[in-house]
Amino acid sequence: MCGIIGYVGTENASRRLIEGLKILEYRGYDSSGICLLSRGEISIIRAVGRVENLENKVTDKDESFCGIGHTRWATHGSVSEENAHPHRVGRVTLVHNGIIENYLELRTRLEGEGYSFKSQTDTEVACALFDKYYVENVHPCVAIYRAVREIRGSYAFGIMFDGYEGRIFGLRHRSPLLVGLGSDGLYLSSDITALLPFTKTYSLIEEAEVVELREKEAIFYTHDGICDPVWQEATLNYDQAQKGGFSHFMLKEINEQSESVRKTIIPRISGGLPDFSHDGISRDIFQGIKQIHIVGCGSAYNVGCMGARLIEEYSRISASAFVASEYRYSPPANMQSTLVIAISQSGETADTLASVRYAKLCGCRVVSIINARETSLARESDKVIYTYAGPEIAVATTKGFATQLSILYLLSVYLGIFTSKLDTEVAKLKVDELDSSVRLIEGRLKDLGQIEELASLIYRKESCFFIGRSLDYFMCQEGALKLKEISYIHAQAYQAGELKHGTISLIEEGTPVISLMGEVRLLDKTLSNVKETKSRGAFTISLVPKNEKSPQECGDFVITLMGNSLIEYLFDELLCLQMLAYKVALLRGCDIDKPRNLAKSVTVE
Ligand code: AGP
Repeated sequence: MCGIIGYVGTENASRRLIEGLKILEYRGYDSSGICLLSRGEISIIRAVGRVENLENKVTDKDESFCGIGHTRWATHGSVSEENAHPHRVGRVTLVHNGIIENYLELRTRLEGEGYSFKSQTDTEVACALFDKYYVENVHPCVAIYRAVREIRGSYAFGIMFDGYEGRIFGLRHRSPLLVGLGSDGLYLSSDITALLPFTKTYSLIEEAEVVELREKEAIFYTHDGICDPVWQEATLNYDQAQKGGFSHFMLKEINEQSESVRKTIIPRISGGLPDFSHDGISRDIFQGIKQIHIVGCGSAYNVGCMGARLIEEYSRISASAFVASEYRYSPPANMQSTLVIAISQSGETADTLASVRYAKLCGCRVVSIINARETSLARESDKVIYTYAGPEIAVATTKGFATQLSILYLLSVYLGIFTSKLDTEVAKLKVDELDSSVRLIEGRLKDLGQIEELASLIYRKESCFFIGRSLDYFMCQEGALKLKEISYIHAQAYQAGELKHGTISLIEEGTPVISLMGEVRLLDKTLSNVKETKSRGAFTISLVPKNEKSPQECGDFVITLMGNSLIEYLFDELLCLQMLAYKVALLRGCDIDKPRNLAKSVTVE
């Protein structure tokens, strides 16, 4: 996730900025840069890779007391110095966090007005827009307010304007940005962590405010004039700050999911339809494909099962998911005309890599869905679709899974159009439903009362059943894995229809049975399976779409799923099961971010 730092004061700005960027490294990035006002001149220094590559490029002649810096996690445009921030257009230099959703439209218009662009980024377009409005005798704040009226999306900007030497301007919308008040100057940052070595006194920048930092003061502007900042004292220590104030990385990453999914899907939707040209993927990679194999481990396998089902449902292309550690040892009989999709958050899982090598030996094309950058899996894939979840620190994946699911869903709709099994209007509706799932994630995170109550009811249990059909069953697999890996309660997913073929013998008085019913078309069948377990003493917990059944029909403990479509129900189920596992593990006093025996990336077979 990108990071912003700015400084104006009495000390060496390049030192302050580099130190701040090094603190922001934990957020994950692939390039960095600083802009310094040095002897009245603006100098921009950028580097790919680690911040120390940037540090090595800064020389003593770059002495300065004012500057901005940035760590970039590439979304629009490749990893390169050209695409690294800061960007400079005309008399404006800036750094940016967030996504300008309408940047292509703005870019086309600005090119028509004579602007040319060196990078592939949305950030450079925003810089040109500010420059366009920063005309003679117009104060930067006026230019800023006029420009942001045309921007759609999320942003946090740190901006320097020629003619206003020694000053930094900041503003935000949906991305965090705050001001630090130090004894040696004023700071700007997207993350309180970067300020802690210099000051604990900070003020948030509110939406619609523009802040102007000078050597000794910060001026907060609103549309109506100047307002007083609300200075606070940071109570977080460095470790807590890295977690964004959350008690665990897992909780922080669960809360980041809506932003992660939004960042992941926006570059892949054009005109309301899925479009993977952002990833260099066009229809020709699918030409002649007779079947799709999806390979992954753990959660990546679970989401792969969902992807295979969705692809078959929407495109009628044969698709199957395989546990990567089995794939090459029990190879499918026919590998002809097969596209292999490998899924991996880390891009370094040994079994998944081995599956890809086997597939390549069989002459298959490989498209990988990866979160981490510069990985072995990326190097061995024909095409890569990156998820923009940002670094995932907790061993138990959450936002990694959610962003993978969003890509697989978009890909299944894309393939439905490709095979003409989905008409455009239906496809657009499905893309809209995915988009509304993002808002729903935010809604559920504000409504966790039932999850906490349920956790208190089951955290002492020794085992837990998860049952469902079709996509609900695969989500049960993920819910069971989350509960197992962080709370150490034995949990198992079962196809609801399978219970009566043996498993139901395990049900005892009070055994928790969690049933997922997002697949409304199969709800009645799953409900009858729930009743079978209830009659044998189970404590039945049901996640049911609203208005489908009266709660008392559905189980002892009923959570109403939000939304109006299957994909929304699935995302709500995912949120509920992630938070249930988290709350249960908390009650059991487990080491949530680093569960026993587990590693974040399993680089051995
Ligand atoms: C998921 O919570 C687990 N940490 C684990 O199953 C993980 O999904 C699996 O090891 C695959 O990792 P990858 O996505 O990095 O390849």
